[in-house]
Amino acid sequence: MTNATFPLVVVSNRLPVSFSVDENGARVPTLSPGGLVAAVAPSLQGRDAAWVGWDGTESADSEPAEVEGIALFPVSLSQDLVERHYEGFSNGTLWPLFHDVGVESEFQESWWEAYQEVDATFAQRAAEVVAPGGIVWVHDYQMMLVPGLLRALRPDVTIGYFHHIPFCAPQTLQSLPQHAELLDGTAAADIAGFQRKGDCDNFLKAAGKFLGADVSVRAETYPISLDFTAVSTASGDPHVLARAAELRSEWGDPRTVFLGVDRIDYTKGIPERLEAYEALLRSGQLTVEDTVMVQAGSPSRENVPSYQALRARIDAIVSRINQEFQSSDGRPAVIYSAQNLERAEMLALFVAGDVMVVSSLRDGMNLVAKEFVACKNDESGVLILSPFTGAADRMVDALIADPTTSVELQSAMLQATAMTPEEQQRRMVALREEVRTHDVAWWAERILTDLASKATRP
Ligand code: G6P
Repeated sequence: MTNATFPLVVVSNRLPVSFSVDENGARVPTLSPGGLVAAVAPSLQGRDAAWVGWDGTESADSEPAEVEGIALFPVSLSQDLVERHYEGFSNGTLWPLFHDVGVESEFQESWWEAYQEVDATFAQRAAEVVAPGGIVWVHDYQMMLVPGLLRALRPDVTIGYFHHIPFCAPQTLQSLPQHAELLDGTAAADIAGFQRKGDCDNFLKAAGKFLGADVSVRAETYPISLDFTAVSTASGDPHVLARAAELRSEWGDPRTVFLGVDRIDYTKGIPERLEAYEALLRSGQLTVEDTVMVQAGSPSRENVPSYQALRARIDAIVSRINQEFQSSDGRPAVIYSAQNLERAEMLALFVAGDVMVVSSLRDGMNLVAKEFVACKNDESGVLILSPFTGAADRMVDALIADPTTSVELQSAMLQATAMTPEEQQRRMVALREEVRTHDVAWWAERILTDLASKATRP
Protein backbone atom coordinates (compact mmCIF):
# COMPACT_ATOMS: atom_id res chain seq x y z
CA MET A 1 0.00 0.00 0.00
CA THR A 2 2.92 2.32 0.71
CA ASN A 3 3.46 3.30 -2.92
CA ALA A 4 -0.19 3.43 -3.92
CA THR A 5 -1.87 6.73 -4.61
CA PHE A 6 -5.50 7.62 -4.03
CA PRO A 7 -8.06 9.64 -6.00
CA LEU A 8 -9.41 11.15 -2.77
CA VAL A 9 -7.29 12.15 0.22
CA VAL A 10 -8.66 13.65 3.43
CA VAL A 11 -6.37 15.73 5.63
CA SER A 12 -7.27 16.56 9.23
CA ASN A 13 -5.28 17.30 12.34
CA ARG A 14 -6.45 14.07 13.98
CA LEU A 15 -6.78 10.69 12.34
CA PRO A 16 -10.22 9.14 12.78
CA VAL A 17 -8.75 6.32 14.85
CA SER A 18 -7.11 5.46 18.08
CA PHE A 19 -4.37 2.83 18.21
CA SER A 20 -4.06 0.01 20.68
CA VAL A 21 -1.27 -2.59 20.82
CA ASP A 22 -2.13 -6.29 20.34
CA GLU A 23 -0.42 -9.32 21.99
CA ASN A 24 2.28 -9.36 19.29
CA GLY A 25 3.10 -5.71 19.84
CA ALA A 26 1.44 -4.61 16.58
CA ARG A 27 -0.55 -1.38 16.48
CA VAL A 28 -4.25 -1.97 15.88
CA PRO A 29 -6.37 0.96 14.69
CA THR A 30 -10.03 1.39 15.68
CA LEU A 31 -12.33 4.01 14.28
CA SER A 32 -13.14 6.52 17.00
CA PRO A 33 -16.61 8.02 17.15
CA GLY A 34 -17.48 11.67 17.62
CA GLY A 35 -17.16 15.11 16.06
CA LEU A 36 -15.46 15.55 12.75
CA VAL A 37 -14.50 11.92 12.53
CA ALA A 38 -17.98 10.51 12.91
CA ALA A 39 -19.18 12.95 10.28
CA VAL A 40 -16.58 12.37 7.61
CA ALA A 41 -15.70 8.67 7.87
CA PRO A 42 -19.03 7.23 6.62
CA SER A 43 -18.93 9.36 3.50
CA LEU A 44 -15.58 7.87 2.46
CA GLN A 45 -16.64 4.24 2.48
CA GLY A 46 -16.21 2.67 -0.95
CA ARG A 47 -14.41 5.68 -2.46
CA ASP A 48 -10.80 4.38 -2.47
CA ALA A 49 -9.89 7.13 -0.07
CA ALA A 50 -6.88 7.84 2.11
CA TRP A 51 -6.70 9.91 5.27
CA VAL A 52 -3.68 11.84 6.49
CA GLY A 53 -3.69 12.87 10.16
CA TRP A 54 -1.93 12.92 13.50
CA ASP A 55 -2.01 9.52 15.18
CA GLY A 56 -1.82 10.95 18.69
CA THR A 57 1.72 9.71 19.28
CA GLU A 58 5.26 10.93 19.08
CA SER A 59 6.50 7.61 17.77
CA ALA A 60 8.66 7.66 14.67
CA ASP A 61 6.76 4.62 13.43
CA SER A 62 4.20 5.96 10.97
CA GLU A 63 3.33 2.84 9.01
CA PRO A 64 0.16 3.17 6.93
CA ALA A 65 -2.80 1.18 8.19
CA GLU A 66 -6.27 0.42 6.90
CA VAL A 67 -9.54 0.61 8.76
CA GLU A 68 -12.99 0.02 7.27
CA GLY A 69 -11.67 0.45 3.74
CA ILE A 70 -9.91 3.77 4.39
CA ALA A 71 -6.11 3.88 4.03
CA LEU A 72 -4.64 5.76 6.97
CA PHE A 73 -1.41 7.66 6.74
CA PRO A 74 -0.39 8.60 10.27
CA VAL A 75 1.73 11.64 11.00
CA SER A 76 3.64 11.46 14.27
CA LEU A 77 4.40 14.73 16.02
CA SER A 78 6.90 15.43 18.78
CA GLN A 79 5.56 16.57 22.13
CA ASP A 80 7.10 19.94 21.49
CA LEU A 81 5.27 20.36 18.18
CA VAL A 82 1.98 19.25 19.73
CA GLU A 83 2.41 21.82 22.47
CA ARG A 84 3.09 24.62 20.04
CA HIS A 85 0.90 23.66 17.03
CA TYR A 86 -2.10 21.98 18.69
CA GLU A 87 -2.24 23.47 22.19
CA GLY A 88 -0.60 26.74 21.19
CA PHE A 89 -1.51 28.21 17.82
CA SER A 90 -4.56 26.01 17.07
CA ASN A 91 -6.26 26.09 20.46
CA GLY A 92 -4.64 29.02 22.28
CA THR A 93 -4.70 31.42 19.31
CA LEU A 94 -7.13 30.39 16.56
CA TRP A 95 -9.95 28.69 18.48
CA PRO A 96 -10.69 31.68 20.76
CA LEU A 97 -10.16 34.11 17.86
CA PHE A 98 -12.67 32.43 15.56
CA HIS A 99 -15.25 31.80 18.31
CA ASP A 100 -14.90 35.28 19.76
CA VAL A 101 -16.71 34.63 23.04
CA GLY A 102 -14.54 36.74 25.32
CA VAL A 103 -11.65 34.34 25.92
CA GLU A 104 -8.48 36.08 24.91
CA SER A 105 -6.61 34.81 21.86
CA GLU A 106 -3.00 34.38 22.93
CA PHE A 107 -0.08 34.46 20.61
CA GLN A 108 3.54 33.38 20.65
CA GLU A 109 5.91 33.56 17.71
CA SER A 110 7.13 30.00 18.36
CA TRP A 111 3.55 28.71 18.14
CA TRP A 112 3.23 30.23 14.68
CA GLU A 113 6.54 28.65 13.64
CA ALA A 114 5.26 25.23 14.74
CA TYR A 115 1.95 25.80 12.96
CA GLN A 116 3.78 26.43 9.69
CA GLU A 117 6.02 23.42 10.24
CA VAL A 118 3.22 20.98 11.04
CA ASP A 119 0.98 22.18 8.21
CA ALA A 120 3.94 21.76 5.84
CA THR A 121 4.40 18.17 7.04
CA PHE A 122 0.73 17.39 6.42
CA ALA A 123 0.81 19.03 2.98
CA GLN A 124 3.92 17.01 2.08
CA ARG A 125 2.30 13.75 3.17
CA ALA A 126 -0.88 14.51 1.20
CA ALA A 127 1.20 15.40 -1.87
CA GLU A 128 2.86 11.97 -1.67
CA VAL A 129 -0.34 9.94 -1.56
CA VAL A 130 -2.77 11.77 -3.86
CA ALA A 131 -3.15 10.35 -7.37
CA PRO A 132 -2.50 12.56 -10.43
CA GLY A 133 -5.46 14.91 -10.87
CA GLY A 134 -6.99 13.69 -7.58
CA ILE A 135 -8.90 15.53 -4.89
CA VAL A 136 -7.57 16.55 -1.48
CA TRP A 137 -10.14 17.54 1.13
CA VAL A 138 -8.58 19.52 4.00
CA HIS A 139 -10.36 19.96 7.33
CA ASP A 140 -10.50 22.74 9.83
CA TYR A 141 -8.62 25.55 11.49
CA GLN A 142 -5.58 23.47 12.49
CA MET A 143 -4.77 23.03 8.77
CA MET A 144 -5.42 26.44 7.21
CA LEU A 145 -2.04 26.65 5.48
CA VAL A 146 -2.30 23.21 3.90
CA PRO A 147 -4.22 24.23 0.73
CA GLY A 148 -1.58 26.82 -0.21
CA LEU A 149 1.38 24.57 0.59
CA LEU A 150 -0.18 21.68 -1.28
CA ARG A 151 -1.01 23.83 -4.30
CA ALA A 152 2.71 24.62 -4.63
CA LEU A 153 3.68 20.95 -4.38
CA ARG A 154 0.89 19.52 -6.55
CA PRO A 155 -0.64 22.03 -8.97
CA ASP A 156 -2.53 19.16 -10.66
CA VAL A 157 -4.86 18.35 -7.75
CA THR A 158 -8.21 19.84 -6.79
CA ILE A 159 -8.28 21.11 -3.22
CA GLY A 160 -11.25 21.55 -0.92
CA TYR A 161 -11.08 23.16 2.51
CA PHE A 162 -13.85 22.84 5.11
CA HIS A 163 -13.93 25.11 8.13
CA HIS A 164 -15.86 23.31 10.89
CA ILE A 165 -15.93 26.22 13.31
CA PRO A 166 -17.31 29.76 13.02
CA PHE A 167 -15.40 32.27 10.90
CA CYS A 168 -15.03 35.55 12.80
CA ALA A 169 -15.53 39.07 11.47
CA PRO A 170 -12.65 40.51 9.38
CA GLN A 171 -11.77 43.12 12.02
CA THR A 172 -11.42 40.36 14.66
CA LEU A 173 -9.22 38.28 12.37
CA GLN A 174 -7.10 41.34 11.65
CA SER A 175 -5.92 41.44 15.28
CA LEU A 176 -3.80 38.39 14.50
CA PRO A 177 -0.54 39.39 12.80
CA GLN A 178 -0.68 36.37 10.46
CA HIS A 179 -4.25 36.94 9.22
CA ALA A 180 -3.15 37.43 5.60
CA GLU A 181 -0.97 34.30 5.58
CA LEU A 182 -3.85 32.22 6.94
CA LEU A 183 -6.29 33.62 4.39
CA ASP A 184 -3.80 33.16 1.62
CA GLY A 185 -3.29 29.51 2.59
CA THR A 186 -7.00 28.80 2.74
CA ALA A 187 -7.94 30.79 -0.35
CA ALA A 188 -5.59 28.59 -2.38
CA ALA A 189 -8.30 25.91 -2.21
CA ASP A 190 -10.63 25.55 -5.18
CA ILE A 191 -13.60 25.48 -2.84
CA ALA A 192 -13.76 26.68 0.76
CA GLY A 193 -16.76 25.35 2.71
CA PHE A 194 -18.42 26.79 5.82
CA GLN A 195 -21.23 25.83 8.18
CA ARG A 196 -23.32 29.00 7.96
CA LYS A 197 -23.84 31.79 5.47
CA GLY A 198 -22.42 34.30 7.97
CA ASP A 199 -19.14 32.32 8.17
CA CYS A 200 -18.91 32.22 4.39
CA ASP A 201 -19.59 35.97 4.15
CA ASN A 202 -16.97 36.77 6.79
CA PHE A 203 -14.39 34.71 4.95
CA LEU A 204 -15.13 36.37 1.60
CA LYS A 205 -15.08 39.82 3.16
CA ALA A 206 -11.75 39.12 4.86
CA ALA A 207 -10.24 37.65 1.70
CA GLY A 208 -11.41 40.65 -0.33
CA LYS A 209 -10.14 43.10 2.24
CA PHE A 210 -6.77 41.56 3.07
CA LEU A 211 -5.82 39.64 -0.08
CA GLY A 212 -7.21 41.97 -2.73
CA ALA A 213 -8.48 41.12 -6.17
CA ASP A 214 -6.48 37.97 -6.94
CA VAL A 215 -8.75 35.59 -5.00
CA SER A 216 -10.37 32.92 -7.12
CA VAL A 217 -11.61 30.60 -4.36
CA ARG A 218 -15.26 29.63 -4.46
CA ALA A 219 -16.86 29.82 -1.00
CA GLU A 220 -20.01 27.87 -0.18
CA THR A 221 -22.16 26.90 2.78
CA TYR A 222 -22.37 23.17 3.56
CA PRO A 223 -23.93 22.51 7.00
CA ILE A 224 -22.43 19.32 8.42
CA SER A 225 -24.58 16.52 9.78
CA LEU A 226 -24.43 12.93 11.01
CA ASP A 227 -25.42 9.49 9.85
CA PHE A 228 -29.02 9.69 11.07
CA THR A 229 -29.93 6.08 10.31
CA ALA A 230 -26.81 4.68 11.98
CA VAL A 231 -27.30 6.74 15.14
CA SER A 232 -31.02 6.06 15.28
CA THR A 233 -30.49 2.31 14.84
CA ALA A 234 -27.66 2.13 17.36
CA SER A 235 -29.75 3.96 19.94
CA GLY A 236 -32.54 1.39 19.51
CA ASP A 237 -30.27 -1.48 20.55
CA PRO A 238 -31.85 -3.40 23.46
CA HIS A 239 -28.70 -2.93 25.58
CA VAL A 240 -28.83 0.83 25.06
CA LEU A 241 -32.54 0.94 25.93
CA ALA A 242 -31.98 -1.16 29.04
CA ARG A 243 -29.11 1.05 30.12
CA ALA A 244 -31.25 4.16 29.56
CA ALA A 245 -33.96 2.74 31.84
CA GLU A 246 -31.35 1.84 34.43
CA LEU A 247 -29.91 5.36 34.33
CA ARG A 248 -33.33 6.92 34.85
CA SER A 249 -33.94 4.81 37.88
CA GLU A 250 -30.44 5.65 39.24
CA TRP A 251 -31.48 9.29 38.92
CA GLY A 252 -34.58 8.60 41.01
CA ASP A 253 -37.03 8.65 38.08
CA PRO A 254 -37.81 12.35 38.23
CA ARG A 255 -40.46 13.81 35.96
CA THR A 256 -37.95 15.76 33.83
CA VAL A 257 -34.32 14.95 33.08
CA PHE A 258 -32.45 17.93 31.66
CA LEU A 259 -29.40 16.84 29.75
CA GLY A 260 -26.17 18.49 28.66
CA VAL A 261 -23.52 16.59 26.67
CA ASP A 262 -20.46 18.49 25.53
CA ARG A 263 -16.73 18.62 25.18
CA ILE A 264 -15.72 20.71 28.17
CA ASP A 265 -15.15 23.90 26.22
CA TYR A 266 -15.84 27.54 27.08
CA THR A 267 -17.78 27.94 23.83
CA LYS A 268 -20.47 25.50 24.98
CA GLY A 269 -22.13 27.68 27.62
CA ILE A 270 -22.01 25.00 30.34
CA PRO A 271 -21.89 27.49 33.27
CA GLU A 272 -24.81 29.44 31.76
CA ARG A 273 -26.86 26.24 31.52
CA LEU A 274 -26.12 25.15 35.09
CA GLU A 275 -26.83 28.62 36.45
CA ALA A 276 -30.15 28.86 34.63
CA TYR A 277 -31.16 25.59 36.30
CA GLU A 278 -29.90 26.83 39.66
CA ALA A 279 -31.98 30.01 39.31
CA LEU A 280 -35.11 27.96 38.60
CA LEU A 281 -34.51 25.81 41.67
CA ARG A 282 -33.84 28.85 43.80
CA SER A 283 -36.99 30.64 42.65
CA GLY A 284 -38.99 27.48 43.28
CA GLN A 285 -40.24 27.29 39.69
CA LEU A 286 -38.61 23.85 39.49
CA THR A 287 -37.95 21.43 42.31
CA VAL A 288 -35.19 18.93 42.77
CA GLU A 289 -37.79 16.23 43.48
CA ASP A 290 -39.28 16.66 40.01
CA THR A 291 -36.17 17.39 37.98
CA VAL A 292 -32.48 16.63 37.61
CA MET A 293 -29.74 18.10 35.43
CA VAL A 294 -27.39 15.48 34.01
CA GLN A 295 -24.25 17.02 32.59
CA ALA A 296 -21.77 14.79 30.78
CA GLY A 297 -18.56 16.53 29.76
CA SER A 298 -15.64 15.05 27.84
CA PRO A 299 -12.35 16.49 29.06
CA SER A 300 -10.73 18.43 26.25
CA ARG A 301 -7.45 20.27 25.55
CA GLU A 302 -6.50 19.82 29.18
CA ASN A 303 -3.10 21.46 28.91
CA VAL A 304 -4.55 24.74 27.67
CA PRO A 305 -4.98 27.18 30.61
CA SER A 306 -8.41 28.54 29.53
CA TYR A 307 -9.75 24.96 29.60
CA GLN A 308 -8.28 24.33 33.04
CA ALA A 309 -9.95 27.50 34.30
CA LEU A 310 -13.29 26.35 32.87
CA ARG A 311 -13.01 22.93 34.54
CA ALA A 312 -12.46 24.62 37.90
CA ARG A 313 -15.37 27.00 37.31
CA ILE A 314 -17.77 24.17 36.44
CA ASP A 315 -16.64 22.12 39.46
CA ALA A 316 -17.35 25.11 41.71
CA ILE A 317 -20.81 25.75 40.25
CA VAL A 318 -21.81 22.09 40.50
CA SER A 319 -20.72 21.78 44.11
CA ARG A 320 -22.43 25.05 45.02
CA ILE A 321 -25.74 23.88 43.48
CA ASN A 322 -25.50 20.41 45.00
CA GLN A 323 -24.77 21.73 48.47
CA GLU A 324 -27.99 23.67 48.36
CA PHE A 325 -30.24 21.30 46.43
CA GLN A 326 -30.70 17.60 47.03
CA SER A 327 -33.79 15.43 46.79
CA SER A 328 -35.32 13.97 49.94
CA ASP A 329 -33.48 10.71 49.29
CA GLY A 330 -30.16 12.50 48.86
CA ARG A 331 -29.84 12.64 45.08
CA PRO A 332 -28.01 15.82 44.03
CA ALA A 333 -29.67 18.32 41.69
CA VAL A 334 -26.80 18.12 39.20
CA ILE A 335 -25.25 14.82 38.18
CA TYR A 336 -21.98 15.75 36.58
CA SER A 337 -19.35 13.53 35.02
CA ALA A 338 -16.15 14.73 33.42
CA GLN A 339 -14.91 11.67 31.56
CA ASN A 340 -14.91 10.20 28.09
CA LEU A 341 -17.92 7.92 27.80
CA GLU A 342 -18.24 4.79 25.72
CA ARG A 343 -20.42 5.26 22.67
CA ALA A 344 -23.21 3.03 24.02
CA GLU A 345 -23.30 4.96 27.31
CA MET A 346 -23.55 8.24 25.40
CA LEU A 347 -26.46 6.92 23.35
CA ALA A 348 -28.18 5.72 26.53
CA LEU A 349 -27.91 9.26 27.92
CA PHE A 350 -29.60 10.70 24.84
CA VAL A 351 -32.37 8.12 25.12
CA ALA A 352 -32.79 8.74 28.86
CA GLY A 353 -32.84 12.55 28.74
CA ASP A 354 -36.10 14.46 28.33
CA VAL A 355 -34.85 17.97 27.61
CA MET A 356 -31.53 18.43 25.87
CA VAL A 357 -30.09 21.87 26.59
CA VAL A 358 -27.63 23.08 23.95
CA SER A 359 -26.56 26.49 25.20
CA SER A 360 -23.43 27.22 23.16
CA LEU A 361 -22.18 30.80 23.11
CA ARG A 362 -20.84 30.08 19.64
CA ASP A 363 -20.68 26.74 17.84
CA GLY A 364 -19.85 25.86 14.23
CA MET A 365 -22.68 23.33 14.04
CA ASN A 366 -23.27 21.33 17.27
CA LEU A 367 -23.78 17.73 16.28
CA VAL A 368 -24.96 16.82 19.79
CA ALA A 369 -28.29 18.51 18.97
CA LYS A 370 -28.61 16.25 15.93
CA GLU A 371 -27.55 13.14 17.87
CA PHE A 372 -30.22 13.78 20.49
CA VAL A 373 -33.05 13.92 17.97
CA ALA A 374 -31.66 10.93 16.05
CA CYS A 375 -31.84 8.91 19.31
CA LYS A 376 -35.47 9.84 20.02
CA ASN A 377 -37.06 6.98 18.14
CA ASP A 378 -40.17 7.27 20.32
CA GLU A 379 -40.60 10.90 19.17
CA SER A 380 -40.64 12.25 22.72
CA GLY A 381 -38.34 14.87 24.24
CA VAL A 382 -37.55 18.54 23.75
CA LEU A 383 -34.50 20.22 22.28
CA ILE A 384 -33.50 23.65 23.58
CA LEU A 385 -31.04 25.18 21.14
CA SER A 386 -28.90 28.29 21.20
CA PRO A 387 -29.28 30.57 18.17
CA PHE A 388 -25.48 30.84 18.13
CA THR A 389 -25.10 27.30 16.75
CA GLY A 390 -25.01 26.32 13.09
CA ALA A 391 -27.68 23.74 13.95
CA ALA A 392 -30.20 26.50 14.75
CA ASP A 393 -30.38 27.52 11.07
CA ARG A 394 -32.30 24.41 10.11
CA MET A 395 -33.54 22.89 13.40
CA VAL A 396 -36.30 25.46 13.65
CA ASP A 397 -38.66 23.23 15.64
CA ALA A 398 -36.36 23.35 18.65
CA LEU A 399 -37.03 25.87 21.42
CA ILE A 400 -34.53 28.55 20.44
CA ALA A 401 -33.13 30.33 23.50
CA ASP A 402 -30.30 32.83 23.94
CA PRO A 403 -28.01 31.41 26.66
CA THR A 404 -26.49 34.80 27.43
CA THR A 405 -29.86 35.97 28.71
CA SER A 406 -30.48 33.71 31.69
CA VAL A 407 -34.21 34.45 31.88
CA GLU A 408 -34.62 33.40 28.25
CA LEU A 409 -32.92 30.07 28.90
CA GLN A 410 -34.92 29.63 32.10
CA SER A 411 -38.18 30.30 30.33
CA ALA A 412 -37.32 27.75 27.61
CA MET A 413 -36.57 25.19 30.34
CA LEU A 414 -39.94 25.88 31.96
CA GLN A 415 -41.71 25.73 28.62
CA ALA A 416 -40.05 22.36 27.97
CA THR A 417 -41.19 20.89 31.29
CA ALA A 418 -44.76 22.03 30.61
CA MET A 419 -44.90 20.90 26.98
CA THR A 420 -47.68 18.44 26.15
CA PRO A 421 -46.72 15.06 24.69
CA GLU A 422 -48.55 16.07 21.49
CA GLU A 423 -46.46 19.20 21.02
CA GLN A 424 -43.27 17.34 21.87
CA GLN A 425 -44.11 14.78 19.23
CA ARG A 426 -45.00 17.35 16.58
CA ARG A 427 -41.71 19.17 17.10
CA MET A 428 -39.61 16.01 17.39
CA VAL A 429 -41.07 14.48 14.23
CA ALA A 430 -40.18 17.65 12.31
CA LEU A 431 -36.67 17.80 13.79
CA ARG A 432 -35.99 14.15 13.00
CA GLU A 433 -37.24 14.58 9.45
CA GLU A 434 -34.96 17.59 8.99
CA VAL A 435 -31.87 15.69 10.18
CA ARG A 436 -32.81 12.47 8.37
CA THR A 437 -33.16 14.25 5.03
CA HIS A 438 -30.04 16.40 5.57
CA ASP A 439 -27.66 13.80 6.89
CA VAL A 440 -23.92 13.45 6.53
CA ALA A 441 -24.20 11.70 3.18
CA TRP A 442 -26.13 14.74 1.85
CA TRP A 443 -23.40 17.02 3.21
CA ALA A 444 -20.45 15.03 1.87
CA GLU A 445 -22.11 14.35 -1.47
CA ARG A 446 -22.62 18.06 -2.12
CA ILE A 447 -19.01 18.95 -1.32
CA LEU A 448 -17.49 16.01 -3.16
CA THR A 449 -19.70 16.60 -6.22
CA ASP A 450 -18.67 20.26 -6.32
CA LEU A 451 -15.00 19.29 -5.98
CA ALA A 452 -15.32 16.62 -8.66
CA SER A 453 -16.84 19.11 -11.08
CA LYS A 454 -13.87 21.42 -10.47
CA ALA A 455 -11.53 18.47 -11.03
CA THR A 456 -12.94 17.67 -14.45
CA ARG A 457 -13.00 21.26 -15.72
CA PRO A 458 -11.21 21.70 -19.08
C1 G6P B 1 -14.19 20.54 17.04
C2 G6P B 1 -13.23 20.91 15.92
C3 G6P B 1 -12.47 19.69 15.43
C4 G6P B 1 -11.84 18.96 16.61
C5 G6P B 1 -12.90 18.62 17.64
C6 G6P B 1 -12.32 17.91 18.87
O1 G6P B 1 -15.24 19.79 16.54
O2 G6P B 1 -13.93 21.54 14.88
O3 G6P B 1 -11.48 20.06 14.50
O4 G6P B 1 -11.16 17.80 16.18
O5 G6P B 1 -13.53 19.81 18.06
O6 G6P B 1 -11.28 18.66 19.42
P1 G6P B 1 -9.81 18.09 19.58
O7 G6P B 1 -8.99 19.27 19.99
O8 G6P B 1 -9.91 17.05 20.64
O9 G6P B 1 -9.38 17.51 18.26
